[in-house]
Amino acid sequence: MKKKLKIVTIGGGSSYTPELVEGFIKRYDEFPLTELWLVDIEAGLEKLNIVGEMAKRMVKKAGIECEVHLTLDREEALKDADFVTTQLRVGLLDARILDERIPLSHGLIGQETNGAGGIFKALRTIPVILDIVEDMKRLCPDAWLINFTNPAGMVTEAVLRYGNWNKVVGLCNIPVNAVVEESKILGEETKNLFFHFAGINHLHWHTVTDAAGNNRTDELIEKMYGSGDAKSIVANIKDNDLIFEQVENLHMVPCPYHNYYYYTDKMLAEELEDFKNHGTRAERVKVIEKELFELYKDPKLDYKPKQLAERGGARYSDAACETITSIYNDKHTIMTVSTKNNGTITDLPEDSAVEVTCMLTGQGPIPYNFGKFEAKERGLLQLMKAMEELTIEAAVSGDRGTLLQAFTMNPLITSGDVAKTVMEELLEAHKEHLPNFFR
Ligand code: G6P
Repeated sequence: MKKKLKIVTIGGGSSYTPELVEGFIKRYDEFPLTELWLVDIEAGLEKLNIVGEMAKRMVKKAGIECEVHLTLDREEALKDADFVTTQLRVGLLDARILDERIPLSHGLIGQETNGAGGIFKALRTIPVILDIVEDMKRLCPDAWLINFTNPAGMVTEAVLRYGNWNKVVGLCNIPVNAVVEESKILGEETKNLFFHFAGINHLHWHTVTDAAGNNRTDELIEKMYGSGDAKSIVANIKDNDLIFEQVENLHMVPCPYHNYYYYTDKMLAEELEDFKNHGTRAERVKVIEKELFELYKDPKLDYKPKQLAERGGARYSDAACETITSIYNDKHTIMTVSTKNNGTITDLPEDSAVEVTCMLTGQGPIPYNFGKFEAKERGLLQLMKAMEELTIEAAVSGDRGTLLQAFTMNPLITSGDVAKTVMEELLEAHKEHLPNFFR
């Protein structure tokens, strides 16, 4: 009899699920999964059934002994789970459309994880994730929570601070993509390079050192930004060159989301242009999703279609599978994840979540020490971390004053009356998913 190894994926009806299944099939020898439970809510049932059947076909084709269960019953699924992954979207894509459209209609950045939209995604998501943690305490107290629900950093911090649950890892695909793409730019194999990331989710910087101990960061910056036509490493952010002199002076590679802070006017102008002419990113994503689910319906399709790469989150699930396999096998894989700071970055509170290069062991992520940032990174980083703290606090308490502080502090939101108006419009628009604010 094979030993039970059970994974529960909440938000199992997501279009990213085939990538997750592919990742587990690929790693079956070292991670002999016996049960995969895909959980969703009533509103996601149709998608769950379509993608779930597709998952079953993939497993069958691979010839592995793994049962795929589809359910709306979260409690039944969580019972005795070994790992729980979360990839849910509270309010589905329609909520994201509001997060983008409302700020844009007031001339502010409207984005999934940044600015006012990102704050509201946190407000809707954090209470749901904390509920899942409460269920886990009762039903699978030994399980690890692997979260890739955005905003991944704030969600991880909420679990640590307010869920009192330490067995959590937050994931993002940006570091994974950077490692793959930048190794190619340097003409080196990934295994011969050490990428040292530090910061918070969607706002981190990194250096690169080769096997001989040479710091290759300046060379990489020159190759990426020197010519003025840097390519974006994620599908949801357009190629957008930063000012070379500024990046060169950092001696660290910024992440694609820095564009919003280093080049706010340009990013805003582009978003407004798209908003006027063809709609926001989430509206585009809705079209891609529709196409993907049409493909998934095909009973002959038993592999991940290439169209999934049009989504910005490509390689997310692969990162999740590698994290899970590494924890399970005490594999010591080096990966960048969101975890408790514990002094890794001395500029940030000990108990906050940071996104840093870690060694993934049977005990979870062990961060590589980073120390202090220089003022040029530290200023923005500390500001954003304080903004995140206020947002998380507001999500839990439902306090409008705290929320307005987060809005006022966020560099992508103008302060005063506009901030308050956008905040109130968003609160009203998302009322149904914000019970803490409307008790
Ligand atoms: C990036 C981010 C993810 C985000 C995704 C959005 O890759 O790292 O956190 O989920 O983009 O992509 P989408 O296709 O939904 O716009």
